[in-house]
Amino acid sequence: MKISILNGPNLNLLGTREPSIYGHQTLSDIEAMVAAHAPGHEIEFFQTNREGELVDAIQGAAREADALILNAAAYTHTSIAIHDSLKAASLPKVEVHLSNPAAREAFRHHSYVSPVVDVVIAGAGPVGYCLAVDAVLALAERRAA
Ligand code: DQA
Repeated sequence: MKISILNGPNLNLLGTREPSIYGHQTLSDIEAMVAAHAPGHEIEFFQTNREGELVDAIQGAAREADALILNAAAYTHTSIAIHDSLKAASLPKVEVHLSNPAAREAFRHHSYVSPVVDVVIAGAGPVGYCLAVDAVLALAERRAA
């Protein structure tokens, strides 16, 4: 199965960015952990700080991947463009966050992503990405049944 994992702004700084919230693992560490968690599956990891590039990547995943995992980071709370591109993508979709935005500042409480995905995973830290992979595998099995 081909799983596209897309990451939004400032997630390239993981490891040094607010470690009390996001931990000490880098995005590369998380990528390696996910690859080890899902042997036999093709995992594509991507990060961008640009909203339009995330839209392009969501459209690309819809064309070429079997499932999509997205941490849209701050764009979660602002981007109608990302909402619309997810709505147009019919593959299994999981929203993931390292922290639990619902337990943080009020401006993080609204997600434009949550209404247009199948599953939301938040607050589990880096292992949330592995849980997201488990979720897309379960969703794909359910769709095939
Ligand atoms: C985040 C939560 C967002 O509110 C924040 O803007 C991020 C990271 C998370 O993974 O916890 O950049 O998506």
